[in-house]
Amino acid sequence: MGTAATIDVTALRADFPILSRRVHGAPLAYLDSAATSQKPTAVLAAMDAYYRQTNANVHRGVYELAAEATARYEAGRDAVARLVNWPREGTVFTKNASEAINLVAWAWGVRELRAGDEVLVTEMEHHSGIVPWQIVAEITGATVRFVPVTPGGELDMDALREMLTERTRMVGVVHASNVLGTINPVEEIARLAHDAGALMLVDGSQSVPHMPVDIAALGCDFFAFTGHKMLGPTGIGVLAGRPELLDRMSPFLGGGEMISNVTTEGSTWADLPWKFEAGTPPIAEAVGLGAAAEYLMDLGLEAVRAHEMDLVEHMLAALGEVEGITIYGPRDPRARGAAVSFSLPDLHPHDIAQLVDQEGVCIRAGHHCAKPLMRVLGVGATARASAYLYNSHDEIDVLVRALGTARAAFAGR
Ligand SMILES: Cc1ncc(COP(=O)(O)O)c(C=O)c1O
Repeated sequence: MGTAATIDVTALRADFPILSRRVHGAPLAYLDSAATSQKPTAVLAAMDAYYRQTNANVHRGVYELAAEATARYEAGRDAVARLVNWPREGTVFTKNASEAINLVAWAWGVRELRAGDEVLVTEMEHHSGIVPWQIVAEITGATVRFVPVTPGGELDMDALREMLTERTRMVGVVHASNVLGTINPVEEIARLAHDAGALMLVDGSQSVPHMPVDIAALGCDFFAFTGHKMLGPTGIGVLAGRPELLDRMSPFLGGGEMISNVTTEGSTWADLPWKFEAGTPPIAEAVGLGAAAEYLMDLGLEAVRAHEMDLVEHMLAALGEVEGITIYGPRDPRARGAAVSFSLPDLHPHDIAQLVDQEGVCIRAGHHCAKPLMRVLGVGATARASAYLYNSHDEIDVLVRALGTARAAFAGR
């Protein structure tokens, strides 16, 4: 990891040109990084340079440009693998986290699951961690079961222990919730899953961008994350899978690039990780994601995490002052990430988001692709502010002031 102990937000914001624009005449306060992060110039420049100087298809060409494109694409993989401490042959590029989870559901689940088998997921999963398993359950006759969330917004570990049986074949858990912020004890859950003879998949979409993640130390079998939430471009995600498991699995998607040989009788597969990368891959996106991983490593994920804990502490305190507010999820900054969901009486979350937008503040409103969790919380939607490494206390204060204005505007109607 990097050497910087703290983050100098003022200096760092110069790397993110978009943050100096204005919206509705007000300075932009971007508090929606849980949906997608902004991109530093290092990422934009790497992708621009790739297209200006190198663009060629990868893995096939024998000419210099093609060799350079292949080298840049694979260097992107190396940087990402280093960021999360995972072997490169187990680091598969996908379109996003959703596709990474679908890859496991289809390449492992459809072939391995039988009627009577169970897949355990949690009530705080993003739809990406639920729907692929529901589709596979429909095909195989397996059952998807949901580990409950406590009123404090944490995973009910006693229930999880009880639900893990010899029928459990896969446990899918989000590392950090995009709604509650809750950071789940995935290392412990991996141990419990393995003791029960099950595999474990972690959805790290909201953890890899924000904290040091050492996948090897977590002990899980599969780990999915997505490029656009970690300073990288859209169109690329990652499935980190245990190479010996990936090796035994058949491909998810077939086509060019992923074969060793094709005859009219049948085909054999390329080595890992290319066996799971059918077709022309997201080359410029891998270059951009590699630059994003380097940027994060230079900054130091410990420093990022410390900065965000400070932001979330401030956010919880400042939001807590808003009259009538309900804040969801753990109150201890050490137990959570910097995505904070809340609701206000008499104001629909969409109205909240629209009203604060008038002051230049970007927050999210809706079910956050976590409808089962919304049902647990007893709401149809929440508002959500989420901070990242480029945010400051000031922006949170602007949000809180804008919430006050929004409440006053509605009270006056
Ligand atoms: C926890 C979590 N998992 C999965 C996803 C899906 O990511 P993507 O849309 O990039 O596949 C998200 C995105 O919102 C998320 O927050």
